[in-house]
Amino acid sequence: MTEKNKTSIPSPAPIAEPTGKLGVLLVGLGAVSTTFIAGVEAVRRGKALPIGSLTQMACIRLGKRTENRNPRIRDFVPLATLDDLVFGAWDIFPDSAYEAALHAGVLERSLIEDLKPFLSKIKPMPAAFDRSYVKRLDGRNVKPAANKYELAEQLIADIENFRKKHHCTRLVMIWCASTEVYLEPAPKHHGTLKAFEAAMKANHKSIAPSMLYAYAALKCGVPFANGAPNLTVDIPALIELAQMNNVPICGKDFKTGQTFMKTLIAPGLKSRMLGLQGWYSTNILGNRDGEVLDDPESFRTKEESKLSVLEYILQPELYPELYRDFSHVVRINYYPPRGDNKEGWDNIDIVGWLGYPMQIKINFLCRDSILAAPLVLDLALFLDLAQRAGMRGIQEWLSFYFKSPMVAPQLYPEHDIFIQLMKLKNTLRHLRGEDLITHLGLEYYD
Ligand SMILES: NC(=O)c1ccc[n+]([C@@H]2O[C@H](COP(=O)([O-])OP(=O)(O)OC[C@H]3O[C@@H](n4cnc5c(N)ncnc54)[C@H](O)[C@@H]3O)[C@@H](O)[C@H]2O)c1
Repeated sequence: MTEKNKTSIPSPAPIAEPTGKLGVLLVGLGAVSTTFIAGVEAVRRGKALPIGSLTQMACIRLGKRTENRNPRIRDFVPLATLDDLVFGAWDIFPDSAYEAALHAGVLERSLIEDLKPFLSKIKPMPAAFDRSYVKRLDGRNVKPAANKYELAEQLIADIENFRKKHHCTRLVMIWCASTEVYLEPAPKHHGTLKAFEAAMKANHKSIAPSMLYAYAALKCGVPFANGAPNLTVDIPALIELAQMNNVPICGKDFKTGQTFMKTLIAPGLKSRMLGLQGWYSTNILGNRDGEVLDDPESFRTKEESKLSVLEYILQPELYPELYRDFSHVVRINYYPPRGDNKEGWDNIDIVGWLGYPMQIKINFLCRDSILAAPLVLDLALFLDLAQRAGMRGIQEWLSFYFKSPMVAPQLYPEHDIFIQLMKLKNTLRHLRGEDLITHLGLEYYD
């Protein structure tokens, strides 16, 4: 390791204890949010297991393989417990979490009825919304305002009121609202905080509603995660604000169904130097998310997020014989009868020894929000941990959860899920002053 590298790794700071309530503010009270909230409550009541959540179920190896130290992550780092969580939300529809969960149709009705008194109390605050960014939806639970800056001020007031009302010592915010139309980064308006604030006041179209929530969160010192592919917090102005106010941020776009599969399989093919001619992915989805993504402009945001994964994992610039010009197609088809139970098909044309072609077919009958809910939980708990550990700005170690991970401008994103997991676990080891694990293993042999 060079001297320069040695000094650039910050030493772990002491981590403040997670005392008191952690408020989880969810933008959007749809399928993912209600499955998350109802799921946490079901786990708290001992009715179900938090399957899919690293913070609740995963162990972390410490030290040498001979030491047999494998605590649960939640016992290794000081995380908020599920009992500490309280929930708030915004949505353009006034439905409570009970009504929204019924509408989403993800969880069994009997479970939702059991939780009715709890879920009915969670009512969404009026949203900062503009139909030009989500064309397929229209709702009446929306804030009136003269301009975007005023909307952001109202969101800031909502956050502070929530903090007081629920006696929260800390808050986190997670965007679980609809995918907005595709926006190009606009350096003139997104480049600096000053320019961004001026653009909000001028009601400029390059400022999407999701950016107002992110701005409000960061102004209030609240960590922010973006579960959709919108630009949102991934612009220099808001990264600057996060740095300035010492707030952790991460995104974009939860990595759940087909892209999750892609980032499992593509690293495996590359590890064996098998070539790729093409990867065709299509799926049918019938929930509100599917309806929003039926609009070509919202789909474009999603498509960009889904397409980049293979290029980064396979590195065609390093392996042109194997990966140059492979064809990659992604389709999402809105098909109402399936609701949240998405079905995805992948056809993968691969190439082996001497150029002989082979095919892999995947048929994933998944449940979108069942896959996403534990990610929301982990992100809420890890962002809160990051803040108590004095980490600020982009949290690349949380790339594990995203299709388009946010990274420093000079870096390419790491998409290989196994590298992402190693990065996440090594960050936790680093925070606790434990040795990082390199998997070298020579020390076990003479
Ligand atoms: N479920 C998954 O596996 C998965 C994976 C990756 C990303 N996502 C993304 O997560 C988001 C949520 O997915 P979902 O299935 O819960 O969708 P959903 O349509 O059920 O819920 C989204 C909610 O956001 C609300 N909304 C839209 N704009 C808003 C605004 N400006 N302010 C407040 N509320 C607003 C909508 O009214 C809706 O109720 C989507 O953007 C989706 O693309 C989901």
